[in-house]
Amino acid sequence: MDYVLMCQYRQCRKHRENKVDMNDLTKPFKRLPVALIGTGSYVPERRLTNEDLEKMVDTSNEWIVTRTGIEERRIAAPDEKTSDMATQAARRAMESAGVTPEEIDLIIVATVTPDTFTPSTACYVQANIGAVNAAAFDISAACSGFLFALKTAVQYIGCGQARTALIIASEKLSHIVNWEDRSTCVLFGDGAGAAVLRSGTGIEGDSAVLASDIGSDGTLTDLLMVPGGGSAIPTTEENIQEKLYTLAMRGNEVFRYAVAHMKDSALSLIERTGIKPEDVDLVIPHQANLRIINAVAQRLGIPAERVFVNVHKYGNTSGAAVAIALDEAVSTGRARKGDIILLVTFGAGLTWSSAAIRL
Ligand code: UT7
Repeated sequence: MDYVLMCQYRQCRKHRENKVDMNDLTKPFKRLPVALIGTGSYVPERRLTNEDLEKMVDTSNEWIVTRTGIEERRIAAPDEKTSDMATQAARRAMESAGVTPEEIDLIIVATVTPDTFTPSTACYVQANIGAVNAAAFDISAACSGFLFALKTAVQYIGCGQARTALIIASEKLSHIVNWEDRSTCVLFGDGAGAAVLRSGTGIEGDSAVLASDIGSDGTLTDLLMVPGGGSAIPTTEENIQEKLYTLAMRGNEVFRYAVAHMKDSALSLIERTGIKPEDVDLVIPHQANLRIINAVAQRLGIPAERVFVNVHKYGNTSGAAVAIALDEAVSTGRARKGDIILLVTFGAGLTWSSAAIRL
């Protein structure tokens, strides 16, 4: 990949002049600070309310609201692809960052609903936005994907292998939901969120990704998965009939692990950075269930007014949830320049992640 990046850099006069040599690993380097310079998000127009779901499965608005906090979710149009939503969010993030497509040298898309198994969704986004100098690839970390992408981009920028990175999480979960299974279909929605990261100044008080944490437990893959459609259970007529290409979850168990891992990940980050819970201006947690959000906030000792919630509007959009929430927090002024925000996520894998960012 470094070779590919080097070749692309040679095509670009701007980068030649700036002397970013993606292939030069010989020089010792000082870790460069990384700043978050823009955010963007996109949700499809169509709203699916709890009342709509009452007509589809044996459920009630009351059950969904009390157990999850979700009131409605957005559903992508049949011909709207994951890359289309990602592209919209990316364009908005680039606009808010004030960067041109040519300046982007790394695109990472986190998704579990890619347009195609191959090529990556990131490559479709690259073509859509005309980021001709970028290397593009996807990562798969389910609901933790956006912060896995952030951590990856921070490593590239931090060691001088990239200057400007576009990270995106985009999901068309409506495509892999079993609309006859009330225990899952009421939970999920579609959408995308994006951010632009750039090597920063390192001056105290400037925007910076202060620390990030990622983790996984591959012994618990069966708690939340799409069993079919891959090499383990290939797509056959029978497997399609049995809906093995849809999401299956043991909700109760996932709930318990979610609270425990989100709390532990956030606390370890708080410890490592020396930030105290009272220094955190806003916690932006994964938006899966209001009860999980409240339980995590309570265990971190952070009051509800410093916790961002939009799960009632969009449901669980997997990796996109925290990215959309981040953009909404910034664009509505809930999170302001200089604020310290703590993002924390949890998802299939199992995977978990957290990041502390000074805006
Ligand atoms: O994004 C990745 C991480 N994902 C999560 O974090 C999700 C974690 N899990 C959860 O959020 C919760 O476990 C759920 C919202 C999925 C379920 O809530 P719960 O309080 O754990 O409910 P439950 O699964 O224990 O089900 C309680 C009852 C059951 O009925 P019985 O057996 O007690 O008679 C279910 O059949 O609720 C029933 N039920 C429903 N009833 C009405 C399950 N789904 C529904 C429904 N409407 N949609």
